[in-house]
This record gives sequence, structure tokens and C-alpha cells, in this order.
Amino acid sequence: MIQWQGARVLITGASSGLGEQFAHAVARRGAIPILVARRQTRLAEVAQAIHARTGIHPEVIACDLLIPQARAELVTRVGTVDVLIPNAGWGPVGRVATLSLRAHQEMLTLNIEAVVEVVHGLLPLLKRRRQGGILFVASTAAFQPCPNFATYGATKAFILSWAQALGQELRKDDITVTTLCPGATATEFFQAANIPRKRIPALARGLLDPEAVVEAGLRGLEQGRALVIPGMRHRFLVQVQRFVPRRVIAWVAGRSLGLK
Ligand SMILES: NC(=O)c1ccc[n+]([C@@H]2O[C@H](COP(=O)([O-])OP(=O)(O)OC[C@H]3O[C@@H](n4cnc5c(N)ncnc54)[C@H](OP(=O)(O)O)[C@@H]3O)[C@@H](O)[C@H]2O)c1
Repeated sequence: MIQWQGARVLITGASSGLGEQFAHAVARRGAIPILVARRQTRLAEVAQAIHARTGIHPEVIACDLLIPQARAELVTRVGTVDVLIPNAGWGPVGRVATLSLRAHQEMLTLNIEAVVEVVHGLLPLLKRRRQGGILFVASTAAFQPCPNFATYGATKAFILSWAQALGQELRKDDITVTTLCPGATATEFFQAANIPRKRIPALARGLLDPEAVVEAGLRGLEQGRALVIPGMRHRFLVQVQRFVPRRVIAWVAGRSLGLK
């Protein structure tokens, strides 16, 4: 059970997109967002907008989650916390051999290592409070091999699997663990990853609204659901995939991700 009033909610990747929407949505519920990302000016603007609308003063922590020391400092700096939303993530489109090794390493660090480190570091605090939750942000890419998006998809598959295992481990601690798996959503994700939207068929089919995605995720957390896939079409596609051979799924996914 999540008691939002006065709760402290750590949100990574809060300077734009889903993270920014999470910050507004939890503040509307009476919680105090702790905003984490690299762009300090953007974080300050988000904090100011939240204060103007709700009267709540969010905390701002500028932090590059790719830097080991910055991650360690973040964990020690947070103090008490009730809900974690390790949302920051990044993923460029391209063949494994074409992307730089550095790009692969940064995806592994930001999308997996930083999530594990922040959650592991703050879990003792959450356990002590016995009323909180963790809302992971994976993706529909977690359910299938993703040619042309291979490392990104695999990082999200890791998060989904890890989160569902952790959720079972924490059942007796009264800590809810929910994994949100959105399909393509209208945020700065594609810009940040330099993804040409017109060349990717999956994106041309339309993007989800970030506010609706965030509300679905928070409702899922409030209801104690392990998995949330926003949108009927995405839920249907995820279910259908279970009955189709992985080889076929990989071929279809590659096509829809612009693999020629
Ligand atoms: N948009 C989609 O289609 C979609 C679909 C499924 C899942 N997701 C997932 O949703 C999550 C949020 O992405 P989004 O769509 O909201 O994209 P976004 O608008 O690009 O937001 C990404 C956030 O991550 C932060 N970030 C990036 N690198 C960072 C670093 N090294 N250290 C700290 N923060 C960093 C960015 O802030 P700074 O640049 O200021 O650091 C930004 O606030 C990601 O995990 C993404 O994989 C997105």
C-alpha cells in the first residue's frame, strides 16, 4: 500500500519525458519528488513548475549515473525514501556491429548497472519504512529479441526479469514492486538516441501519451500489480507473441525497428 502524502519519491531521469511526468504526478498526490538527472537547469525548471502547481518543493540532485562515484554519492545523499522510480534510460537504434562499443557499454551501465546499484543501495531504507514501492521502467522491447535495438531490448529484458524476482523477495516486507512496460511514447527518447522516427515503422504507427503512461504505471503500483503494459494494442501484441516462435518474432521485430 502506497501512502503518497509526504512520501519521498526518488525519480531518476526526471529532467524530461516520463521522469518529468512522474515528478508532476507524484507531487499531485502529495509526495515530495527527489529529481535526478544530469541537466541541472532542466531539473530546476521542473522543480519550479511543480512548486508553482502544487506548493511542494521537490529536491534536485544533479547526477550523471554513468559515473560510479556519482551513483555512490547519490545513494548516500538521498536520506529517507519511500518510493523508487529508477526511470533514466537510453537506447540508440543500430546493428550490434555498427554501434560503438561505448554505446553498448553506456546502455548496460545506465539501463542496468545504475538501476541495480541505486535499488540495492536504497533497499535497506525502504525495508525499514515498510510501506513503499519500486516502480521500474522497462519497455515492450523486454518481451522480444530486438534486431537493430539488440542491447537496449536486452537491458529492458534484464530489468523486467530482475524486478519480477525482486518483487517476490519483497512480498513479506510490504514493498510493492511494479514494472511498467510502455511501447513507443512521445518523449525526448528518440531525440536523445538520435533515432530517425520516419525510418522506424514501429514509431510511425503512433506514440503513446507520456502522461497516460505514467498514470497507468502509478495506478499499477497503487494496486500492487507486478506488470503494467499501457494500451490495448501493446497488451495484445505482448500476449500474441507467446504463441509465435522466437525466430519469427525476431524477424518481425527487426522489420518494425527498421532493419533492412
Ligand atoms: N519513450 C519511449 O518510447 C519509451 C518506451 C519504453 C520505455 N522507455 C523508457 O522510459 C524511460 C524514460 O525515458 P523517456 O522516454 O522519458 O526518455 P527521455 O525523455 O530521453 O528521458 C530520459 C531521462 O534519462 C536521463 N538520463 C539520461 N542519461 C542519464 C545519465 N547518464 N545520468 C542521469 N540521467 C540520465 C535524462 O536526463 P539528462 O539528459 O538531463 O541526464 C532524461 O531525464 C527510459 O528508461 C526508457 O528506456 C521509453
